[in-house]
Amino acid sequence: MTVLVTGAAGFIGFHVAAALLARGEAVVGVDCFTPYYDMALKRARAAELLRHPGFRLLELDFAEPGALAALEGTGIDRIVHLGAQPGVRHSIDNPLAYLHANLAGHLALLEFARHAPALRHMVYASSSSVYGANQRLPFAVEDRTDHPVSLYAATKRADELMSEAYAHLYRIPLTGLRFFTVYGPWGRPDMAVWSFTEALYDRRPIRLFAGGRLRRDFTFIDDIVTGVLAVLDRPPADDGMAKPGGSVSPHALYNIGNSRPERVVDLVALLEAETGLSAMVEEAPMQPGDVEATFADVGPLARDAGFRPATPLATGIARWVGWYRDVWRPRISGKGTG
Ligand SMILES: NC(=O)c1ccc[n+]([C@@H]2O[C@H](COP(=O)([O-])OP(=O)(O)OC[C@H]3O[C@@H](n4cnc5c(N)ncnc54)[C@H](O)[C@@H]3O)[C@@H](O)[C@H]2O)c1
Repeated sequence: MTVLVTGAAGFIGFHVAAALLARGEAVVGVDCFTPYYDMALKRARAAELLRHPGFRLLELDFAEPGALAALEGTGIDRIVHLGAQPGVRHSIDNPLAYLHANLAGHLALLEFARHAPALRHMVYASSSSVYGANQRLPFAVEDRTDHPVSLYAATKRADELMSEAYAHLYRIPLTGLRFFTVYGPWGRPDMAVWSFTEALYDRRPIRLFAGGRLRRDFTFIDDIVTGVLAVLDRPPADDGMAKPGGSVSPHALYNIGNSRPERVVDLVALLEAETGLSAMVEEAPMQPGDVEATFADVGPLARDAGFRPATPLATGIARWVGWYRDVWRPRISGKGTG
């Protein structure tokens, strides 16, 4: 049987697909290579996956009506739906990209799941941003999530609600994972860990919002991948019992994070130590859509799937900088680390 991974050329999708292949699964990856960030990075991730004989790539936009018909006959029995338009700040200026990829796209995957004859489970990406300006820490899946502070967050919450309706109506086993600030090798250039590191090596200033006091639950990619696979292997039962998130249908919601918020200014210090460079800092006010702190309560995921985040920020940052300096940076023409 085959696992469909959407967003396979993206950061998390690439790692999840690689881990599935490594344990002997056949994987069909779907991606349409949106130009949101450096296309060369997405192509390089896809090229890595294509070296594996168990991997097939379909370049298509899953939000386009009928596009997923291309998957007919592929024998898909599980889905990890990670393709989306991410980014809180980008949703201020480009709202329609979120309507397309995150709303129409998510519905297209639910419809595909509904009609896939062998489907056993679909795991999909939600986000810590659904908690909006929630003041209660850590964020728990039982907390209210009806006050998003960005359109991105609103689309992710809408995905959870659409999923609930489909789990209720069609009894499709669905699990939503609320990711907390994921970082690591092959990461995302629009996120702080990458953009700060790049600025350090380029000798450019780092833009530090709100004096660097904002706290984020930075989560290393390997911990995320372990959690995604553990969840994928445990579809929620259709037993009428309440699941994390409150559903009595086969639909569970979990936080997946390091459960240890760190100040952004401390992230900068770790990056300085690891690169041996000192940061030039450009102060900027807190941005619309930003929140003060994120902090995952991962109790339900620990209980149901044995999830234990195993990578302290200092360890993960050392691994990240090592990859960026020794693997990625030398591939970009004209950029060195000296
Ligand atoms: N990285 C994080 O810290 C984080 C945090 C919270 C939630 N998430 C969510 O996790 C998921 C994966 O995020 P990521 O960091 O890997 O992002 P990413 O941008 O690196 O990957 C998403 C991939 O989806 C593809 N894609 C977008 N729209 C598509 C469409 N309509 N058809 C086909 N492919 C499409 C893009 O080309 C991209 O390669 C997303 O749903 C994101 O919202 C990520």
